[in-house]
Amino acid sequence: MLPRLDDLIVAFDRGLRTVFAPAQSLSATPGEEMPEADMPEERRRRSAALMRVNHTGEVCAQALYQGQALTARDSGAKAALEQAAREETEHLAWTERRIEELGGRKSLLNPAWYAGSFVIGALAGLAGDRWNLGFLAETERQVVAHLDGHLERLPGEDRRSRAIVESMREDEARHATSATGHGAAELPAPAKAIMRLTSRVMTTTSEVL
Ligand SMILES: [Fe+2]
Ligand SMILES: [Fe+2]
Repeated sequence: MLPRLDDLIVAFDRGLRTVFAPAQSLSATPGEEMPEADMPEERRRRSAALMRVNHTGEVCAQALYQGQALTARDSGAKAALEQAAREETEHLAWTERRIEELGGRKSLLNPAWYAGSFVIGALAGLAGDRWNLGFLAETERQVVAHLDGHLERLPGEDRRSRAIVESMREDEARHATSATGHGAAELPAPAKAIMRLTSRVMTTTSEVL
C-alpha cells in the first residue's frame, strides 16, 4: 500500500523539475503561426497574468497526475491517464512559453501548489480507481469552465494566447470524457464544492503572485 522509497525519490525529482526547470514540449505551440498582437501595456499585463494562472493550473495538473500515479492500483484506465498526463506536459510548456513572450513571470507559489496537489492526487489514488477517475473527471470539468472564463477575459486581439487556451480546453474536455468512459464515480456535491473553492484560491492568488 505504501509507496516505495525509490518511487518517492523519482516523484520528488519530477516535482523539482516541473517547478524549476524549463518545460519541454513535443508538439508545436497552438497559435505560434499567428502574429504577435500590438497590445497596450495594460492589456499585455492582463494576458500575462491570466497565462500565469493557467501555467499554475498545469503545474497542479502535473502534481495531481504524479500523485495519482504513485498510489493508484493497476487498471485499464492507466493508459488513458498516461495519455492525459503527456498532454498536460505540453500544456505546461505552451503556457510557460507564452508567459515569456508576454514578458510576464511564473507564479511564486508554484512549489506550494505542486506539493499540495501532489498530496491530493496521492489520496485520490488511494481511494481506488473509480474515485480516482471521478476526481480526475470533476477536476477537468472545472478546468473547462475556468478556461471558458479566461476566453472571455483575454484580450480579443491576443490570438496567440487564445489559441493556446482553446487547445487546452479541447484537451481537458477530452480528459473528462475519457475518465468518465473508464468508469469514473460521480463525486458528492460537497467534494465538488471544496474543489471549486480550492481552485478559486489558486486562481486568485496566482493572478497577482
Ligand atoms: Fe492541462
Ligand atoms: Fe487535463
